[in-house]
Amino acid sequence: MAIDIKYAGPYAVLTLNRPDALNALQFTMIEALSYTLDQVAASDARALIVTGAGPKAFCAGADIKELMDRDLMAQRLGAQLGQRTFAKLAALRIPSVAVLHGYAFGGGLELAMACTFRIATIKARMGLPEIKLGLIPGYGGTQRLPRLVGEARATELVMSGRTVDAIEAERWGLVNRVVPEGEPEELGKTFMADFVGYSRCASLFAREAVARGMATTLDEGLDIEADLSTLAYQTADAAEGMRAFLQKRTPEFKDA
Ligand code: CAA
Repeated sequence: MAIDIKYAGPYAVLTLNRPDALNALQFTMIEALSYTLDQVAASDARALIVTGAGPKAFCAGADIKELMDRDLMAQRLGAQLGQRTFAKLAALRIPSVAVLHGYAFGGGLELAMACTFRIATIKARMGLPEIKLGLIPGYGGTQRLPRLVGEARATELVMSGRTVDAIEAERWGLVNRVVPEGEPEELGKTFMADFVGYSRCASLFAREAVARGMATTLDEGLDIEADLSTLAYQTADAAEGMRAFLQKRTPEFKDA
């Protein structure tokens, strides 16, 4: 199976495992990814780490061999499968991080952009090279990239197919952080350790407030924040967090 999943403590670790083809995404892999995300959603994991097997690539994009000679209907269904699956990843109730240790191109970068966070080693190279194939991104790249880096930079990357390195990607906000080289799973765990110790309720409300606010006006976003912060006050974890502060002890959150 080209999608591996394992659970380690609070983490689910998902690996694209097709290193001979730089983890290029076949449609069967996208279907397996979708199924695996359902399993992760039903698990006790508090964070998801997404990695690519092998030393060279996170993922070099959709499998170009499969994209050839398909009729319009099949192409559209393929794009919708990728979009639907990556939307499922983006909507997971736990945060996710893509660990980019090599190439992240086309569908590979689109997959990474559907994660909550991206971290990159100095060897990471990113881009949406579809234009070089006479194509444009089809798994969300034209929509998620401008939301991350702004319209001008996104249009530049989509129209030129240019590759950006880790330093430029961090400067643009495409990746959260450039991290020292290491084993991708461990890099992901180290990064996610900052997120897994809090109340899942507060974590979810925090992420939802930012994400829903970004999709609307400031006024509506402030309403969303008022509603979700009010909800947060109603949780037992909020009572515990504030009580623990006043009692000068570490809170014991129960995700309730
Ligand atoms: N699809 C299918 N096979 C791929 C692939 C892809 N996207 N990317 C790499 N491979 C395969 C190569 O064909 C090669 O296989 P063989 O050994 O059988 O020949 C193997 O992986 C190793 O690749 P290279 O020899 O090319 O490795 P390299 O180090 O010389 O180059 C690279 C690495 C620059 C990433 C280069 O492989 C490359 O440009 N890949 C294609 C990147 C790309 O265009 N991605 C976009 C795909 S379209 C898409 O994703 C559409 C969408 O929006 C959903």
